Amino acid sequence: MKDHIRQLVQSALQQLVTDGSLPAGLQPNIQVENARDKTHGDFASNIAMMLAKPAGMKPRDLAEKILAALPQDEQVSQVEIAGPGFLNFYQNHAALARRLDAALAGDRLGLPVAATAQRVVVDLSSPNLAKEMHVGHLRSTIIGDAVARVLEFLGHDVIRQNHVGDWGTQFGMLLAFLEENPDAQQQGLADLEEFYRAAKQRFDESETFANRARELVVSLQAGDAECLRLWRSFNDISLSHCQQVYDRLGVKLGMDDVHGESAYNDDLANVIDALQDKNLLTEDQGAQCVFMDQFKNSENEPLPLIVRKADGGYLYATTDLAAIRYRHGQLKADRVLYFVDQRQALHFQMVFAAARLAGFASEDMQLEHMGFGTMNGADGRPFKTRDGGTVKLVDLLNEAEQRAYSLVKEKNPELDESELQDIARTVGIGAVKYADLSKHRASDYSFNFDQMLSFEGNTAPYMLYAYTRVASIFRRLETSMHDSLGGCIQLQHPAEQDLAAALARFGEVLGNLADKGTPHILCTYLYELAGLFSSFYEQCPVLSAEQADIRDSRLRLAALSGRTLQTGLGLLGINTLERM
Ligand code: ARG
Repeated sequence: MKDHIRQLVQSALQQLVTDGSLPAGLQPNIQVENARDKTHGDFASNIAMMLAKPAGMKPRDLAEKILAALPQDEQVSQVEIAGPGFLNFYQNHAALARRLDAALAGDRLGLPVAATAQRVVVDLSSPNLAKEMHVGHLRSTIIGDAVARVLEFLGHDVIRQNHVGDWGTQFGMLLAFLEENPDAQQQGLADLEEFYRAAKQRFDESETFANRARELVVSLQAGDAECLRLWRSFNDISLSHCQQVYDRLGVKLGMDDVHGESAYNDDLANVIDALQDKNLLTEDQGAQCVFMDQFKNSENEPLPLIVRKADGGYLYATTDLAAIRYRHGQLKADRVLYFVDQRQALHFQMVFAAARLAGFASEDMQLEHMGFGTMNGADGRPFKTRDGGTVKLVDLLNEAEQRAYSLVKEKNPELDESELQDIARTVGIGAVKYADLSKHRASDYSFNFDQMLSFEGNTAPYMLYAYTRVASIFRRLETSMHDSLGGCIQLQHPAEQDLAAALARFGEVLGNLADKGTPHILCTYLYELAGLFSSFYEQCPVLSAEQADIRDSRLRLAALSGRTLQTGLGLLGINTLERM
């Protein structure tokens, strides 16, 4: 609705420019907010105050003119001028009700698919292999998955790219360790994590070992058959660990989405040649670098983007340049979103800038680093095990499920064991995901089991519970919120009107999320929706409504609320439960 009102205001302003009341060339950012006090309308805009000065008019006079120029619109029943020059818009409740009835009849909750579908590459998860996934990999995986789901729902063509680190020094280390301990191969395949730890220890304690590891990386990258064979087997194990985590998290990622660093190996020399052809390379202490004026260090000295080391080795940045070229040339992306730790912001700024200079990305291909903050422990420092080690994702999920199990069992001791376990799984995994997704991705947040498993506040248990309340209404009627329902929506009670207005905002929220890559706005929305449903349910009897048409109307509102909650949570990658 806000977007809609913005368009109405836009066309009024256009009209005023045409008839000479406003100077041409103003490009105002039209703001429309939800009104705080519903007795003065549902939405308000301060546009007249913003434009009064450049237009040389008093705000209230300009507001009068805009009001007169506003096109008639069925969704708006009335517009008033208030205070110093606010425009207050009243929503037409009959039109809103018709819109929601239509939403209920369609299979996409009445949401249109994007007018211009884009091809969007989503770079997500992307762990460095050879180790098991740890908590540091959680955010990229689930935030990226949620955004990818929303883009798909809106009709975009999404290509997931799991840019795994499958080609670095860590493999040289594993190969060197195997060379030293030929009998350890079986063990390595059985417990890669332990094998990795042992190899890392050797790497840190012995210079000779470390050098051998580096030599073996070179052999691997040069295509040595035996190195490649071993590398492949380590890689396979490591990827299958990742796949187990993805499946358990309910993240839409499969082996087909893996396109890791090794995939670009053969192209790295071409990347250097292409940079050379464009005269973008400068040699600095034997290394090949791209210098760009806008990047300086804190001493204001030029900052290099190193693309080839003095020993001929390529770097993370070289691979990312090759990946951009591939995403542009082969995948034909209109937009590429990188869900990667905020601490890599400078890396991406430099890589994007260099890619544009080199022509690896066209001017209109959007490259966006969707950075995220750190997941901290209760002490505000990066989340670690008690002895300071990294926390394996699997252990974290186990604990979440166990805690959820105890909570659910306490609440519902009569549930049978298998249902209890199902619920615990959904609540535990949902809680971990929702806690993360509900924070702005750019900020750090502290991981707290008690908070995320609480049934109060903006948490998964609260949201899942809210959904089961809607489901239970329909269970009592022995039908489902997905069945077609009679009657039509009427919006009389303020609680019905507020709920309806929120339901109508779903599409707008998804659109914003898709633009900004911020799932927390969907969490906030669903949380508000659940709250509005709750007050509606308290104030407006549904099953016991006296008039049949009112009962039908309220059932329809309840069904649409339930479906919106379920679809919204689904887009966040969170499953709902029919009861808990
Ligand atoms: N493997 C990298 C890391 O663990 C993340 C890769 C992100 N994607 C990219 N195209 N650079 O830090």
